[in-house]
Amino acid sequence: MQPANVIDGRAIAEQIHSETSQKIAALKSHGIIPGLVFIRVGDDAASVVYVGMKEKMSVRLGITSQTRVLPEQTTQEELLELIYKLNADASVHGILVQAPLPDHISQEIVYSSVKPEKDVDGFNPVNVGKLLLGDPTGFRPCTPAGIQELLIRSGVNTEGAEAVILGRGEIVGKPMAAILCQKAKGANATVTICHSRTRNIKEHCRRADILIAAMGNPKFVKADMIKPGTVVIDVGVNRVPDSSAKSGSRIVGDVDFDDVQPIAGKITPNPGGVGPMTIAMLMSNTARAAEIASGI
Ligand code: GUN
Repeated sequence: MQPANVIDGRAIAEQIHSETSQKIAALKSHGIIPGLVFIRVGDDAASVVYVGMKEKMSVRLGITSQTRVLPEQTTQEELLELIYKLNADASVHGILVQAPLPDHISQEIVYSSVKPEKDVDGFNPVNVGKLLLGDPTGFRPCTPAGIQELLIRSGVNTEGAEAVILGRGEIVGKPMAAILCQKAKGANATVTICHSRTRNIKEHCRRADILIAAMGNPKFVKADMIKPGTVVIDVGVNRVPDSSAKSGSRIVGDVDFDDVQPIAGKITPNPGGVGPMTIAMLMSNTARAAEIASGI
Protein backbone atom coordinates (compact mmCIF):
# COMPACT_ATOMS: atom_id res chain seq x y z
CA MET A 1 0.00 0.00 0.00
CA GLN A 2 1.43 3.36 -1.06
CA PRO A 3 1.24 6.38 1.29
CA ALA A 4 -1.84 8.57 0.68
CA ASN A 5 0.09 11.38 -1.00
CA VAL A 6 1.44 9.16 -3.79
CA ILE A 7 -0.11 9.87 -7.21
CA ASP A 8 -1.11 6.63 -8.93
CA GLY A 9 -0.03 7.23 -12.52
CA ARG A 10 -1.06 3.74 -13.60
CA ALA A 11 -4.64 4.24 -12.38
CA ILE A 12 -4.94 7.67 -14.03
CA ALA A 13 -3.48 6.27 -17.26
CA GLU A 14 -6.17 3.55 -17.15
CA GLN A 15 -8.89 6.27 -16.97
CA ILE A 16 -7.45 7.79 -20.13
CA HIS A 17 -7.18 4.39 -21.84
CA SER A 18 -10.85 3.74 -21.18
CA GLU A 19 -11.75 7.12 -22.74
CA THR A 20 -9.50 6.34 -25.71
CA SER A 21 -11.10 2.88 -26.07
CA GLN A 22 -14.51 4.54 -26.43
CA LYS A 23 -13.16 6.81 -29.18
CA ILE A 24 -11.64 3.81 -30.96
CA ALA A 25 -14.92 1.88 -30.71
CA ALA A 26 -16.75 4.86 -32.28
CA LEU A 27 -14.15 5.00 -35.08
CA LYS A 28 -14.53 1.25 -35.69
CA SER A 29 -18.28 1.62 -35.96
CA HIS A 30 -17.50 3.86 -38.96
CA GLY A 31 -15.07 1.28 -40.38
CA ILE A 32 -11.94 3.18 -39.32
CA ILE A 33 -9.11 1.46 -37.47
CA PRO A 34 -6.48 3.84 -36.10
CA GLY A 35 -3.00 3.03 -37.41
CA LEU A 36 0.27 3.90 -35.69
CA VAL A 37 3.79 3.24 -36.97
CA PHE A 38 6.86 3.32 -34.73
CA ILE A 39 10.27 3.86 -36.27
CA ARG A 40 13.33 2.84 -34.32
CA VAL A 41 16.81 3.39 -35.74
CA GLY A 42 19.50 1.23 -34.14
CA ASP A 43 19.27 -0.76 -30.92
CA ASP A 44 19.37 1.76 -28.10
CA ALA A 45 18.42 -0.46 -25.14
CA ALA A 46 15.94 2.00 -23.58
CA SER A 47 14.27 2.67 -26.94
CA VAL A 48 13.75 -1.06 -27.51
CA VAL A 49 11.88 -1.23 -24.17
CA TYR A 50 9.87 1.99 -24.69
CA VAL A 51 8.75 1.17 -28.22
CA GLY A 52 7.87 -2.37 -27.10
CA MET A 53 5.64 -0.97 -24.33
CA LYS A 54 3.96 1.51 -26.69
CA GLU A 55 3.29 -1.20 -29.28
CA LYS A 56 1.84 -3.55 -26.64
CA MET A 57 -0.58 -0.86 -25.47
CA SER A 58 -1.60 -0.12 -29.08
CA VAL A 59 -2.51 -3.78 -29.54
CA ARG A 60 -4.50 -3.79 -26.29
CA LEU A 61 -6.55 -0.78 -27.38
CA GLY A 62 -7.18 -2.03 -30.91
CA ILE A 63 -4.83 0.35 -32.70
CA THR A 64 -3.15 -1.29 -35.69
CA SER A 65 0.54 -0.78 -35.09
CA GLN A 66 3.84 -1.84 -36.54
CA THR A 67 7.44 -1.13 -35.63
CA ARG A 68 9.93 -0.43 -38.41
CA VAL A 69 13.39 -1.23 -37.12
CA LEU A 70 16.17 0.32 -39.21
CA PRO A 71 19.88 -0.44 -38.80
CA GLU A 72 22.11 2.06 -36.99
CA GLN A 73 23.89 2.94 -40.27
CA THR A 74 20.64 3.94 -42.05
CA THR A 75 21.16 7.25 -43.85
CA GLN A 76 19.01 10.29 -43.16
CA GLU A 77 17.73 10.10 -46.75
CA GLU A 78 16.58 6.49 -46.26
CA LEU A 79 14.78 7.42 -43.06
CA LEU A 80 13.13 10.43 -44.71
CA GLU A 81 12.02 8.25 -47.63
CA LEU A 82 10.23 5.91 -45.21
CA ILE A 83 8.59 8.87 -43.45
CA TYR A 84 7.36 10.31 -46.78
CA LYS A 85 5.87 6.92 -47.68
CA LEU A 86 4.05 6.74 -44.34
CA ASN A 87 2.92 10.38 -44.68
CA ALA A 88 1.17 9.35 -47.91
CA ASP A 89 -0.36 6.13 -46.55
CA ALA A 90 -4.01 6.77 -45.59
CA SER A 91 -4.11 3.74 -43.24
CA VAL A 92 -1.40 5.33 -41.07
CA HIS A 93 -2.77 8.01 -38.73
CA GLY A 94 0.25 8.40 -36.45
CA ILE A 95 4.03 8.23 -36.94
CA LEU A 96 6.48 8.11 -34.05
CA VAL A 97 10.24 8.25 -34.61
CA GLN A 98 11.79 7.18 -31.33
CA ALA A 99 14.57 9.40 -29.97
CA PRO A 100 17.52 9.29 -29.62
CA LEU A 101 18.55 8.98 -33.27
CA PRO A 102 22.13 8.15 -34.35
CA ASP A 103 24.44 11.21 -34.46
CA HIS A 104 24.59 11.29 -38.27
CA ILE A 105 20.83 11.92 -38.49
CA SER A 106 19.36 15.35 -37.74
CA GLN A 107 16.50 15.06 -35.28
CA GLU A 108 15.14 18.46 -36.38
CA ILE A 109 15.01 17.50 -40.06
CA VAL A 110 13.40 14.16 -39.23
CA TYR A 111 10.72 15.64 -36.96
CA SER A 112 10.05 18.42 -39.49
CA SER A 113 9.37 15.78 -42.15
CA VAL A 114 6.61 13.98 -40.24
CA LYS A 115 3.31 15.38 -41.52
CA PRO A 116 1.91 17.60 -38.72
CA GLU A 117 -1.47 15.81 -38.90
CA LYS A 118 0.29 12.47 -38.18
CA ASP A 119 2.77 13.87 -35.63
CA VAL A 120 1.24 12.20 -32.56
CA ASP A 121 4.53 12.84 -30.72
CA GLY A 122 4.07 16.62 -31.04
CA PHE A 123 7.64 17.38 -32.17
CA ASN A 124 7.01 18.80 -35.66
CA PRO A 125 7.68 22.58 -35.56
CA VAL A 126 4.07 23.23 -36.64
CA ASN A 127 2.82 21.47 -33.51
CA VAL A 128 5.52 23.07 -31.33
CA GLY A 129 4.37 26.47 -32.65
CA LYS A 130 0.70 25.66 -32.03
CA LEU A 131 1.54 24.69 -28.46
CA LEU A 132 3.30 28.01 -27.85
CA LEU A 133 0.37 29.89 -29.39
CA GLY A 134 -2.16 27.97 -27.30
CA ASP A 135 -3.81 26.63 -30.48
CA PRO A 136 -5.67 23.44 -29.42
CA THR A 137 -5.68 21.97 -32.96
CA GLY A 138 -2.07 20.79 -32.63
CA PHE A 139 -0.66 17.65 -31.01
CA ARG A 140 1.17 18.11 -27.72
CA PRO A 141 4.25 16.11 -26.68
CA CYS A 142 3.05 13.10 -24.71
CA THR A 143 5.11 13.36 -21.51
CA PRO A 144 4.31 16.99 -20.59
CA ALA A 145 0.69 16.56 -21.75
CA GLY A 146 0.50 13.49 -19.51
CA ILE A 147 1.92 15.40 -16.55
CA GLN A 148 -0.74 18.09 -16.98
CA GLU A 149 -3.43 15.37 -16.97
CA LEU A 150 -1.87 13.85 -13.84
CA LEU A 151 -2.05 17.22 -12.09
CA ILE A 152 -5.65 17.88 -13.19
CA ARG A 153 -6.91 14.39 -12.37
CA SER A 154 -5.23 14.25 -8.96
CA GLY A 155 -6.80 17.58 -7.95
CA VAL A 156 -3.69 19.77 -7.99
CA ASN A 157 -4.57 23.46 -8.42
CA THR A 158 -2.12 24.97 -10.90
CA GLU A 159 -3.86 28.36 -11.00
CA GLY A 160 -1.34 31.01 -9.91
CA ALA A 161 0.97 28.26 -8.58
CA GLU A 162 4.76 28.55 -8.67
CA ALA A 163 5.78 25.75 -11.02
CA VAL A 164 9.50 25.03 -11.16
CA ILE A 165 10.79 22.76 -13.93
CA LEU A 166 14.25 21.22 -13.68
CA GLY A 167 15.53 20.63 -17.23
CA ARG A 168 15.12 22.48 -20.53
CA GLY A 169 14.97 19.55 -22.94
CA GLU A 170 12.80 19.57 -26.07
CA ILE A 171 10.88 16.43 -25.01
CA VAL A 172 9.82 17.53 -21.51
CA GLY A 173 11.21 20.76 -20.00
CA LYS A 174 10.45 23.31 -22.73
CA PRO A 175 6.99 21.99 -23.75
CA MET A 176 6.09 21.53 -20.06
CA ALA A 177 6.78 25.22 -19.46
CA ALA A 178 4.71 26.16 -22.54
CA ILE A 179 1.77 24.06 -21.28
CA LEU A 180 1.78 25.32 -17.70
CA CYS A 181 1.92 29.02 -18.58
CA GLN A 182 -1.09 28.84 -20.94
CA LYS A 183 -4.25 30.75 -20.08
CA ALA A 184 -6.14 27.49 -19.62
CA LYS A 185 -7.51 24.86 -17.24
CA GLY A 186 -4.72 22.92 -15.57
CA ALA A 187 -2.31 25.77 -16.34
CA ASN A 188 -2.15 29.50 -15.47
CA ALA A 189 0.98 28.79 -13.42
CA THR A 190 3.99 31.03 -12.89
CA VAL A 191 6.74 29.01 -14.53
CA THR A 192 10.48 28.87 -13.87
CA ILE A 193 12.82 26.66 -15.89
CA CYS A 194 16.07 25.72 -14.15
CA HIS A 195 18.98 24.20 -16.06
CA SER A 196 22.69 23.45 -15.85
CA ARG A 197 23.60 27.17 -15.77
CA THR A 198 21.02 28.20 -13.17
CA ARG A 199 22.44 29.78 -10.04
CA ASN A 200 20.96 28.68 -6.68
CA ILE A 201 18.76 25.87 -7.95
CA LYS A 202 17.84 25.03 -4.35
CA GLU A 203 16.35 28.48 -3.82
CA HIS A 204 14.15 28.12 -6.90
CA CYS A 205 13.05 24.64 -5.82
CA ARG A 206 12.15 25.84 -2.32
CA ARG A 207 9.76 28.40 -3.86
CA ALA A 208 7.93 25.75 -5.85
CA ASP A 209 4.32 24.74 -5.25
CA ILE A 210 4.82 22.25 -8.09
CA LEU A 211 8.29 20.86 -8.84
CA ILE A 212 8.84 18.87 -12.04
CA ALA A 213 12.20 17.11 -12.21
CA ALA A 214 13.25 16.26 -15.78
CA MET A 215 16.97 16.85 -15.97
CA GLY A 216 18.32 13.30 -15.85
CA ASN A 217 20.25 13.48 -12.59
CA PRO A 218 19.73 10.44 -10.31
CA LYS A 219 18.02 11.28 -6.97
CA PHE A 220 18.92 14.98 -7.34
CA VAL A 221 15.86 16.32 -5.50
CA LYS A 222 16.16 15.89 -1.72
CA ALA A 223 13.82 16.80 1.13
CA ASP A 224 15.81 19.92 2.06
CA MET A 225 15.20 21.33 -1.44
CA ILE A 226 11.43 21.65 -1.13
CA LYS A 227 8.95 23.28 1.20
CA PRO A 228 6.39 21.06 2.96
CA GLY A 229 3.35 20.44 0.74
CA THR A 230 5.09 20.80 -2.63
CA VAL A 231 3.69 18.61 -5.42
CA VAL A 232 6.67 16.69 -6.82
CA ILE A 233 6.64 15.10 -10.29
CA ASP A 234 9.56 12.82 -11.17
CA VAL A 235 10.24 12.40 -14.90
CA GLY A 236 13.77 11.01 -14.53
CA VAL A 237 14.80 7.66 -15.99
CA ASN A 238 18.43 7.09 -14.98
CA ARG A 239 20.25 3.78 -15.13
CA VAL A 240 22.65 3.41 -12.18
CA PRO A 241 24.94 0.53 -11.20
CA ASP A 242 23.46 -1.88 -8.63
CA SER A 243 25.46 -4.97 -7.75
CA SER A 244 22.42 -6.53 -6.01
CA ALA A 245 20.40 -6.46 -9.27
CA LYS A 246 20.60 -9.38 -11.70
CA SER A 247 21.38 -7.03 -14.60
CA GLY A 248 23.97 -5.16 -12.51
CA SER A 249 21.99 -1.92 -12.77
CA ARG A 250 18.60 -0.41 -11.95
CA ILE A 251 16.52 2.61 -12.90
CA VAL A 252 16.13 5.56 -10.53
CA GLY A 253 14.38 8.88 -10.97
CA ASP A 254 15.56 12.47 -10.51
CA VAL A 255 13.87 12.56 -7.10
CA ASP A 256 15.04 10.81 -3.94
CA PHE A 257 11.55 9.40 -3.29
CA ASP A 258 12.16 7.99 0.21
CA ASP A 259 13.62 11.29 1.37
CA VAL A 260 11.05 13.61 -0.26
CA GLN A 261 7.77 11.64 0.03
CA PRO A 262 7.16 12.36 3.77
CA ILE A 263 7.11 16.14 3.27
CA ALA A 264 5.67 16.38 -0.26
CA GLY A 265 2.03 17.40 -0.72
CA LYS A 266 1.74 14.84 -3.49
CA ILE A 267 4.45 12.90 -5.30
CA THR A 268 4.70 10.57 -8.28
CA PRO A 269 6.29 7.15 -7.77
CA ASN A 270 8.92 6.10 -10.27
CA PRO A 271 8.11 3.77 -11.97
CA GLY A 272 4.32 4.01 -12.01
CA GLY A 273 3.97 7.80 -12.19
CA VAL A 274 4.77 9.72 -15.36
CA GLY A 275 5.75 6.75 -17.59
CA PRO A 276 2.26 5.24 -17.98
CA MET A 277 0.88 8.72 -18.73
CA THR A 278 3.27 9.22 -21.67
CA ILE A 279 1.89 6.07 -23.27
CA ALA A 280 -1.71 7.03 -22.45
CA MET A 281 -1.34 10.40 -24.19
CA LEU A 282 0.25 8.77 -27.24
CA MET A 283 -2.74 6.45 -27.59
CA SER A 284 -5.13 9.36 -27.07
CA ASN A 285 -3.31 11.49 -29.68
CA THR A 286 -3.44 8.59 -32.15
CA ALA A 287 -7.20 8.15 -31.72
CA ARG A 288 -7.59 11.91 -32.23
CA ALA A 289 -5.42 11.84 -35.36
CA ALA A 290 -7.69 9.12 -36.79
CA GLU A 291 -10.80 11.14 -35.88
CA ILE A 292 -9.43 14.26 -37.59
CA ALA A 293 -8.27 12.35 -40.69
CA SER A 294 -11.66 10.71 -41.11
CA GLY A 295 -13.78 13.72 -40.16
CA ILE A 296 -15.44 11.96 -37.20
N1 GUN B 1 12.45 9.34 -26.36
C1 GUN B 1 12.18 9.59 -25.06
N2 GUN B 1 10.92 10.05 -24.93
C2 GUN B 1 10.38 10.09 -26.17
C3 GUN B 1 9.11 10.47 -26.68
O1 GUN B 1 8.18 10.88 -25.96
N3 GUN B 1 8.95 10.34 -28.03
C4 GUN B 1 9.95 9.89 -28.82
N4 GUN B 1 9.70 9.83 -30.12
N5 GUN B 1 11.14 9.55 -28.40
C5 GUN B 1 11.34 9.64 -27.07
